[in-house]
Amino acid sequence: MVKKVSAAVFPVAGRGTRFLPATKASPKEMLPIVDKPLIQFAVEEAIEAGARKLVFVTGASKRAIEDHFDTDAELEDALMASGKDRILETIRGIVPDGVTCIYIRQGQPLGLGHAVLCARPAVGSEPFFVHLADDLIAGSPGCLKQMAGEYERHGGSVVAVETVPPEHTSSYGIVAVDGDSRVTEIVEKPAPEDAPSNSAVVGRYLLTGDIFDKLETTGRGAGGEIQLTDAIAAQLDDSAVYAYSFDGTRYDCGSKLGYLKATVAFGLEHPETGAAFRQHLGSVVE
Ligand code: G1P
Repeated sequence: MVKKVSAAVFPVAGRGTRFLPATKASPKEMLPIVDKPLIQFAVEEAIEAGARKLVFVTGASKRAIEDHFDTDAELEDALMASGKDRILETIRGIVPDGVTCIYIRQGQPLGLGHAVLCARPAVGSEPFFVHLADDLIAGSPGCLKQMAGEYERHGGSVVAVETVPPEHTSSYGIVAVDGDSRVTEIVEKPAPEDAPSNSAVVGRYLLTGDIFDKLETTGRGAGGEIQLTDAIAAQLDDSAVYAYSFDGTRYDCGSKLGYLKATVAFGLEHPETGAAFRQHLGSVVE
């Protein structure tokens, strides 16, 4: 029997320079898709998958994330006084009962692997999810829940993958797999000519606790940073890691175009804006 995954790590220390000036004083993870910040999509996906301990690895200018997941008594009183019951219920439900938020500062920007290692004291030795909020995945069930199902089937770490154009391999961790989807090789951001495939890791991981020992000894890799990919590569020597092709649509909200695509997709589905937005788009796009 595999252990239940009940912790999720959200590395949110990055500065989001691609979205400046919007991200000068507020976190990129707070950018909204219609009316919900990216980090709330992330948290909802993790909770749906069974996470009850949410570990945010934060940095400078990220206080808005803590505020977002904290109770705001003044706002709740004001909404109650003005009879805005529906939105009050939504606000109160952002962090459901039984879910705990833990914040850990990543003192230095040493990379994704380092960020995940910072979460070790809060996670312990249990399996856990890592969710990169930039990668918004629309799917039902959500990507992490699908991965939890995969983990229950065979144990081992699981990384979510998607096929990307061969010329894009240098933006991703790239995997090679055997006939059972077991990862045989994983490389961080290889040039197309060095890539073992064009199957790219997207921002969802389910990692077994042994990853932390690997991270402790992982040196600086691509871009001079401590890479999670390199620690997963070290895991391959001792334990199974599986690549999982998720069912859903990924929007790279770390890029302006991906963010706009997500806004359009979610705007078209939103109960308040959907119909009018569809009509509007029809009138502005030839
Ligand atoms: C990180 C990982 C990379 C992964 C990507 C998914 O890169 O290092 O392996 O493919 O996330 O979004 P980043 O996008 O932070 O440069």
